[in-house]
Amino acid sequence: MSKEIVINALAAHYGAADAKVFAAPGRINLIGEHTDYNGGYVFPGAIDKGITAAIRLNGSDRIRALAIDLNEQAEFGLQEEDAPTQQWARYIFGISRELIKRGLPVGGFDTAFTGDVPLGAGMSSSAALESVYAFALNQLLDGHLDKLELARAGQATEHNYCGVKCGIMDQFASLFGKAGNLILLNCHSMEYHYYPFHPEGYRLVLLDTQVKHELASSAYNKRRQSCEAVVAAVQKRHKDIAFLCDVTFDMLHEIRDEISAEEFRCAQYVVGETARVKNVCTALELGDYETVGQMMYETHYGMSHLYEVSCRELDSLNDMAKACGVAGSRVMGGGFGGCTLNLVQESLYDAFISSVNTKYFEQYGKTPKVYEVVISDGARELC
Ligand code: GLA
Repeated sequence: MSKEIVINALAAHYGAADAKVFAAPGRINLIGEHTDYNGGYVFPGAIDKGITAAIRLNGSDRIRALAIDLNEQAEFGLQEEDAPTQQWARYIFGISRELIKRGLPVGGFDTAFTGDVPLGAGMSSSAALESVYAFALNQLLDGHLDKLELARAGQATEHNYCGVKCGIMDQFASLFGKAGNLILLNCHSMEYHYYPFHPEGYRLVLLDTQVKHELASSAYNKRRQSCEAVVAAVQKRHKDIAFLCDVTFDMLHEIRDEISAEEFRCAQYVVGETARVKNVCTALELGDYETVGQMMYETHYGMSHLYEVSCRELDSLNDMAKACGVAGSRVMGGGFGGCTLNLVQESLYDAFISSVNTKYFEQYGKTPKVYEVVISDGARELC
């Protein structure tokens, strides 16, 4: 259906012609949060929600773009000084620039896009937007860039055009996603494995606080700086340590007096999270979802009390899950708002959702949005 929507919108605004249609998804992440830029493991999967775009090359040196859901248009050139002001258009401009830097001869194109991945909810709507254009332009221009390079171009778009010093997880998941599989990715070596994920007797559900996170709001970048400060302190004693995920608790205690209390807490969280990802891998191999869930609660605790990227609403949803006996629950993605990811026993599902709706409404005067997710394929052309 999205396919017809984008083709019709493109035709109506920029004239009918032979557009191609591409899609790229958002992602969930089972565990391994804020570990990607620390050289550690993440465990994401692409989801059945994302961005769909119709696109055709127009032979000029200008991009004409329509954001269907916002009913906004933008037109801009491809030189550095042509950067548009609308945030959504900056992603399209940024990814085009990053592809050009990587040797792809990106020229003008017309495009219309729509999305069903909620914005600012921690499900990587921005990575979906970057990935759909990275994948589409590479294909339309017979490009030589592989999917990892496309993911890197998306990440560089965030760094250079949107002010977020993010890791690689979101763009990687959006491009490499595979239906029914999570991806265990080592963000240092970039080795990855697909893990079939069919938790029998459980459902994965996202509960959206509807508090919009502002990743760019410097808090994310500040956490990253804290992590780098800790690594610099460790390196004075251990020269071979390049990333925080390679630091042990013992090393951390050696330098406790040389870093701030806040940096120490951040590092405690990241070192703990590294261990939790490993525990989850082992548990998944044994089909032990209770342990997976337990690790999710521990991650939430760490993100809330040590890394300090949670908020009242997320903590409330986490408490409600615990009170209902839900197997696992935690804030997902960068934090500061957005969703909790919940691993819910089938038998508890209905009671959990109804209890959350009631309690959240009592506290905040609204109900959380509920998204059930299906682990799906990554960026692709819709033929
Ligand atoms: C955001 C970033 C990712 C990652 C997560 C936290 O989604 O884009 O690179 O750091 O936060 O795990």
